[in-house]
Parts: sequence; C-alpha cells; structure tokens
Amino acid sequence: VRAETARAAEKINTIEFELDKPKVVTMDSVDAGGKKVYCRCWKSGTFPLCDGAHVKHNEATGDNVGPLIVSGPKKE
Ligand code: FES
Repeated sequence: VRAETARAAEKINTIEFELDKPKVVTMDSVDAGGKKVYCRCWKSGTFPLCDGAHVKHNEATGDNVGPLIVSGPKKE
C-alpha cells in the first residue's frame, strides 16, 4: 500500500505500509538527513532507534509491530 501525501503533510513525500510483513512503515522526507529506523514496539535496547527486538516481541505476543523507517537525502 502506498499513499502519496498532500501538501498538508509538507516535508513528507511518501508513506508506505508493508502489510505482508511485520508492520513496517516507510516514509520519505526531505528533512530525514539519510536513513533512520525508529522503534515502535518500545522494546529496543537502543531506543528510540530499532535494534530488531520487535522480532522477539512479536513471537512472544502475537503482535506484528515493526519499525518506522524514515529516509531522505543526507544533509551536508
Ligand atoms: Fe522496536 Fe524494532 S526494536 S520496532
């Protein structure tokens, strides 16, 4: 599923939801400054960044949460 965002979302170009995987949300933003992977399960040892702990969380709970991935051009 891919949704083009309106100008109201300003600096966000696109948002993708990968419904066939643990819920991973990918967002392109002109302000991202490269690629960043943010935890949405609250189990990461490197919070606010994802360290993959969501995989164990999903197995233990039956949930299907995954990270928010924000990418955009690197800032100089
Ligand atoms: Fe929380 Fe990956 S560790 S989403």
